[in-house]
Amino acid sequence: MKLIIDDANPDTIKGLYEYFPVDGVTTNPTILAKEGKNPYEVLMAIREFIGPDAELHVQVVGKNADLIYEEAHMIRKRLGNNTFIKVPVTREGLKAIKVLKKNGFPVTATAIYTHMQAFLAGKAGADYAAPYVNRINNLGVDGIREAKEIHDIFRNNNMATEVLAASFKNSQQALELAKHGVGAATISPDVIEGLVAIDAVTHAVDVFIRDFESFCGKGTNMLNV
Ligand code: E4P
Repeated sequence: MKLIIDDANPDTIKGLYEYFPVDGVTTNPTILAKEGKNPYEVLMAIREFIGPDAELHVQVVGKNADLIYEEAHMIRKRLGNNTFIKVPVTREGLKAIKVLKKNGFPVTATAIYTHMQAFLAGKAGADYAAPYVNRINNLGVDGIREAKEIHDIFRNNNMATEVLAASFKNSQQALELAKHGVGAATISPDVIEGLVAIDAVTHAVDVFIRDFESFCGKGTNMLNV
């Protein structure tokens, strides 16, 4: 399962890249608005840092297929070919996805709440389909189960589309989907940090150091004993 950062702050992204095995960055209009700068300024800084080959997912804002198509061209022109165009799966969005795929754009179908949206996005040729786990949970439906079932729909229908699970509340949810083998998960920085924030591990490491230093002396390590 690819691990993708769901954030647009270049400093935060740099910090996560330094420590975690991450595979790219997703953004959405809400995430970009939080940066308080021109969206392309922020996105170009991210692209420059992650490089031309890393996955960057950028969402369109237009509500009709023609405008979405024009936005996609501008996004590709300014951010490079390996930029996934995130298109909400509405009626117009499906039309746009079909046209974008015919024209060679990488596409992430987003704002997915139902199996049917995901199935249609897959049929339209989307590379990724992004079910919103936590938002689905908030509707009283099991978002994790739905993301798994969408993965199964793609595999059972021989579709190449991968699930890019989104909207997570905790690291456990992401792990559940890794066990099922979904293609990717996009996770906010605090939830990524939560993947390794385990008190028992911190304690175990502290005990190793304490035992070593009690024998070899304070401040010692395998470099200076
Ligand atoms: C992903 O690309 C989605 O836009 C995002 O994960 C939504 O997350 P949220 O439900 O926490 O806003």
